[in-house]
Amino acid sequence: TTILLLHGPNLNLLGTREPGIYGSATLSSINSTCTSLASTYSTGLQHFQTNHEGRLIDRIHEAASANSPVGAIIINPAAFTHQSVAVRDALLGVGLPFVEVHLSNVHAREEWRSKSYFSDKAKGVICGLGPFGYEAAVMFCCRELLGAAK
Ligand code: DQA
Repeated sequence: TTILLLHGPNLNLLGTREPGIYGSATLSSINSTCTSLASTYSTGLQHFQTNHEGRLIDRIHEAASANSPVGAIIINPAAFTHQSVAVRDALLGVGLPFVEVHLSNVHAREEWRSKSYFSDKAKGVICGLGPFGYEAAVMFCCRELLGAAK
């Protein structure tokens, strides 16, 4: 089985994007850390970043297609968190369990960032832990959702 790690809009800019809020780690370093960590549980990891809502939806649908190995999704919906009924409905439509991750503590920022279209349907939500949040999510998916052992 495999984890699908999804990154929403502007996360391709990590490393240079508002580093005081999002830190200095790049998206490729996060992806490679997560890939290595998943492999210690003999679990695969696919990752995908897009700035386009429709492409994110298509990728979620693909994850649930007949010969897809994906058993769990980790998603940082970025700004879509606060906006996208369509991405929420895609996740509900495919029925794969998912964990919601945010680098920043969305509850310590603008009030509207506290509202998520995903949290009530997520297995769990991690925010404010920076890149470590993705590692925690990978470990949770491997152990608790996919039943993988070290
Ligand atoms: C974010 C928080 C969102 O509010 C914001 O729009 C992002 C990133 C985070 O990882 O902290 O793009 O999801």
